[in-house]
Amino acid sequence: MGYVVQVMDESMRLNRYLAWTGTASRRKADDLIRTGRVEVNGNTVTTVGTSVNPQSDIVKVDGRRLAPPAYQVFLFHKPAGYLVSRRGQGGKPTIFSLLPPELQVVQPVGRLDFDTDGALLLTNDGELSRRLQHPRYGIERVYLAAVRSAPQADKVRQAKSGVDLGDKTPACGTIRVVKPRGRNIIVEVHIREGRKHEVKRLLGWAGAPVIQLSRRSFAGFHVGRLAPGTFRKLGKPETARLRRLVGLAD
Ligand code: URA
Repeated sequence: MGYVVQVMDESMRLNRYLAWTGTASRRKADDLIRTGRVEVNGNTVTTVGTSVNPQSDIVKVDGRRLAPPAYQVFLFHKPAGYLVSRRGQGGKPTIFSLLPPELQVVQPVGRLDFDTDGALLLTNDGELSRRLQHPRYGIERVYLAAVRSAPQADKVRQAKSGVDLGDKTPACGTIRVVKPRGRNIIVEVHIREGRKHEVKRLLGWAGAPVIQLSRRSFAGFHVGRLAPGTFRKLGKPETARLRRLVGLAD
C-alpha cells in the first residue's frame, strides 16, 4: 500500500463548471443546459452530461462568456461519520452533503477515514493539491489518538526511523503519549505523508490500537474554533505560505 495522491481531472461536468463559476446551482445549471442557453466553443449544448475543460473550452451562458474563479483553498473541520468522497457508500453521507453549492467543485487534499475528524484542506488548485499530498514535500500531519493501552517504548523509538507496515517503503512517525483520558490514553502522532490508515496501522503495530482519531493540523493549519462541519477560506498570506511550502510561487 503506497501513499495516496488524489489527482484532479482537468475536465469536469458542465453543470459543475456552471456551479463553480457561480452561474447557477447544479440543478439550475441542468435547466440552463436543457433549454439551450449554454454554448461550448460556439456550439449550443443541450446534453446535461457534457464535460468541459475549464482551461481550454470557452463556455457562454446567454451569449456571455464565463470566467473560472481564481484558485481558492478552504480549511474544513471534518466531523466523524462522513466519507471524504464524492459518492456515499452503503448509506454513509459524504462531506459534500455539508458543503454549500460553491464548494461542490473543490477537491479534498487527501483523505481522512469515515470515523476520523479534524483538519482537511479543500481546493480547486490541482497542482497545489498534488504537491501537498506528495511525500517529496513531507507536509506535516498531526493527529491525536485515543488508545486503550500505551504504545510500547521500543516501538515508539523504532517508528521514528521507519517501520515496515507492508507498504513499499517504511513508515515513519513520531509518537508521544500526551495524557490519560478516563480509561484511555491520548497519544500525539506526527507523520509526513498520507498513506491509507497510516496512523491506525502504526499505532496498532506499536501495541496501541486506536479507539478514536482526530487530525489536529495539516501543514500547520489547525481547525481552531471552527465547529465540526464548518469551513473557512484561507486568506492570501495563508495561501501564499502553503504554496511556498511546496515550492510554488505566491
Ligand atoms: N491515518 C489513519 O489511520 N486514518 C486517517 O483518517 C488518517 C490517517
